[in-house]
Amino acid sequence: MRIGLAGAGRIGARHAAALCQLPEVESLVVADADPARARKLAAGLGGAAVAVDPVEDLFTAGLDGLVVAAASAAHAPLVGAAVAARVPVFCEKPLATDLDGTFQIVSAARAAQVPVQVGFQRRFDAGYQAAREAVAAGTLGWLHTVRSCTLDPAPPPASYLPTSGGLFRDCVIHDLDSIRHVTGREVVRVTAAGANRGDAMFREHGDVDTGAALLVLDDGTLGLVAATRYNAAGYDVRLELFGSKDSLAAGLDPRTPVTPVPGDRQPQRAYEGFLDRFADAYDAELRAFVEVAAGRRANPCPPEEALEAFCLAEACDLSLREGRAVDPAEVRRAAGVAR
Ligand SMILES: NC(=O)c1ccc[n+]([C@@H]2O[C@H](COP(=O)([O-])OP(=O)(O)OC[C@H]3O[C@@H](n4cnc5c(N)ncnc54)[C@H](O)[C@@H]3O)[C@@H](O)[C@H]2O)c1
Repeated sequence: MRIGLAGAGRIGARHAAALCQLPEVESLVVADADPARARKLAAGLGGAAVAVDPVEDLFTAGLDGLVVAAASAAHAPLVGAAVAARVPVFCEKPLATDLDGTFQIVSAARAAQVPVQVGFQRRFDAGYQAAREAVAAGTLGWLHTVRSCTLDPAPPPASYLPTSGGLFRDCVIHDLDSIRHVTGREVVRVTAAGANRGDAMFREHGDVDTGAALLVLDDGTLGLVAATRYNAAGYDVRLELFGSKDSLAAGLDPRTPVTPVPGDRQPQRAYEGFLDRFADAYDAELRAFVEVAAGRRANPCPPEEALEAFCLAEACDLSLREGRAVDPAEVRRAAGVAR
């Protein structure tokens, strides 16, 4: 197969190396808004990779699939162009930077019947998958509480903040997707709060450095989400499920950056960041995409899922700004988005 890659930055370079390891991938065509970056990445991957310039040349390169790992603002135009060219797409989150753009992609992909797989990689993490199976099998009984966290070790550069969409759309969106995916339930109410105790740059960009959300799920389960840019102990992403019969935690292992007290256990080489924590999950989602593009498996994360997660992130943002509980249906109605 001939796979394209749009975006040769941090995650693009990682995805490129993983794609080149797959037996199905005969060639990789790399493009970036910065052509030198694409050339450098392709040159480092050996003979199977070539760079093209401009980025639009991807769409005349005879691709069997396109991986979009460019900066977020470029996602919607790139995915839209791929769908129009009938090329199956894997797109890093977010599909678009706003709800309307996300909805447009959902509609276009649905009308064209072109698969668009969204990069919610936690769906491919072994712990999250085991948690989902346990819920489906009923081994936890009925759930009373779900706790999810995304704790980043250090803040991003200030230049990232204007395009990030804020903590809830940028980070918490993964927690929101995982809670829906693992429990199989929908969120019917969110109440969010935020804090700024770190660098003033977050406040200056209308963002928060730490956030929390209380979710009510449609079966009455309560969800608690915590996220921060200031978890110096390391990168901590966990999902904990507590039920009437049993409890379990995905992401709790010797590398989880948390120290039990009293005790002498120190986390072993704490997770440094997402590339480290989710290496296997990124590989697995790309293997899945190649199968989706070849028409051999169903799409494990269609754009409708990204739309729902985005609605929930918007609901959290609205709750934070207005200091009240928000039913996500309000956000959907305001944006004219039907479920
Ligand atoms: N799923 C995850 O865990 C996860 C983790 C990190 C990043 N991401 C997402 O991946 C995307 C990239 O993040 P990153 O950290 O690699 O960023 P980055 O800044 O390192 O790289 C982005 C690259 O995109 C290029 N680019 C910009 N506009 C382009 C265009 N129109 N066409 C082609 N290339 C273009 C830039 O030149 C840059 O090389 C972001 O959307 C981010 O939200 C997802």
